[in-house]
Amino acid sequence: MIKNLKMNNVGPACNMELEFGKRLNLLTGDNGLGKSFLLDIAWWALTRKWPAEINPRLPGGLMAKPYESGKASIEFTFTANSKSKPVNYLSTFDRKAQAWTGKADRPSNPGLVIYAQVDGSFAVWDPARNYWRKKRNVDVQDRPSAYVFTPREVWDGLRDEERGLLCNGLVSDWAGWQKEKGQAFKSLSSILEKISPSIDEKIIPGDLTRISLDDPRDIPTIKMPYGQSVPILHASAGIRRNIALAYLLVWSWEEHIKASNLLEEEPTSQVVFLIDEIEAHLHPKWQRRIISSLLGVMDTLTNKADVQIITSTHSPLVMASVEPAFDASKDAWFDLDFIRVNKGNPYVELNKRSFVRLGDVSNWLTSEAFDLKSARSIEAEKVLKDAAIALSDETFNANMAKILDAQLRELLGETDPFWMRWRFVAEKKGWLS
Ligand SMILES: Nc1ncnc2c1ncn2[C@@H]1O[C@H](COP(=O)(O)OP(=O)(O)O)[C@@H](O)[C@H]1O
Ligand SMILES: [Mg+2]
Repeated sequence: MIKNLKMNNVGPACNMELEFGKRLNLLTGDNGLGKSFLLDIAWWALTRKWPAEINPRLPGGLMAKPYESGKASIEFTFTANSKSKPVNYLSTFDRKAQAWTGKADRPSNPGLVIYAQVDGSFAVWDPARNYWRKKRNVDVQDRPSAYVFTPREVWDGLRDEERGLLCNGLVSDWAGWQKEKGQAFKSLSSILEKISPSIDEKIIPGDLTRISLDDPRDIPTIKMPYGQSVPILHASAGIRRNIALAYLLVWSWEEHIKASNLLEEEPTSQVVFLIDEIEAHLHPKWQRRIISSLLGVMDTLTNKADVQIITSTHSPLVMASVEPAFDASKDAWFDLDFIRVNKGNPYVELNKRSFVRLGDVSNWLTSEAFDLKSARSIEAEKVLKDAAIALSDETFNANMAKILDAQLRELLGETDPFWMRWRFVAEKKGWLS
């Protein structure tokens, strides 16, 4: 589990430092300020490989480059389990090698690391399957460095030129698990149910089916609330995102248990789950449940392991949804901001914010997390600003009020509190008679 991360001269902000919570970590900030970048760095810190270095077919997850000339560093601390001593590590960018310096030898064990990227790519680092050994003081990497899947490989299987098939993929594994009627299918069904959008819209597996004369595979289906069984290849983007999440969790955990048994080792007691834009493709009903569902899912899947989630979000509903559970002793919220200055260059800043309960989604929109002036259309926001000025303007007259009134009528709803206040004041002042 990662404890802290410190970067200098790399990424959009010249310095960033994060002291992670041991359970839930939320990252907010405008587009392009470095949320996905931070998740890439966290993955690298824990596994010491860039996702695209392992799988060049991946569109993102490239090696981090220093921003300017001069020294650049990434420093981090993590633990292998709650009892082990934290491992601290400082890596600097070696210009000649165009690489981040690293100690030879197997990196210390950070537990199981799962990374869900925003485009549907996934990466998994399993301490029982991605280790490397030392023979006469030389590193022998006879295992894959990690399992890194493009979105298509999650569904159709992952191959490695050297090692052949590494993972059957969602379609084939799901069908196989369903026929086998074992623990894997039970876990998958239960996770799908837990991460469903609501109690009456559960994702329930249906019978296997064929969808084309040219595709010999048995395709899993899901029963939709409107009665149809839909082949998962036809399911909506939101459902496919969550199906892929559920599958990767079951696959990673089941394979980890099998590998630990073969090695006669205890399964890991720590899981780090990195998720970019956790709300990706999800309807608000679903956004509101996804974090608590995932926390619950991880709990039942891994039973005893400590689970740390680091996730970025653009969703005020996600922020509002964690209000009941947020606990500052184990959770943290980091916010990236773009700072404009009068003189000098604008810059990006990362701040750890204290989490306050705002009680309402629109309050989240206007909070430090999203920095909007109001939770309305741009047009309504402008007219409201004009109206607010008018209400305190001594020289404001009836003609001006009638124009403003027409604009407000067009832009605000009948029950809008501002609309009611405006009508009350405007009538009292005799502007509208
Ligand atoms: N491989 C990289 N090396 C250095 N900087 C990067 C790299 N990838 C992304 N960045 C930095 O991160 C910014 C993009 O941030 P990103 O994390 O994608 O934004 P978002 O907050 O929307 O997820 C880029 O403008 C660049 O400054
Ligand atoms: Mg991003």
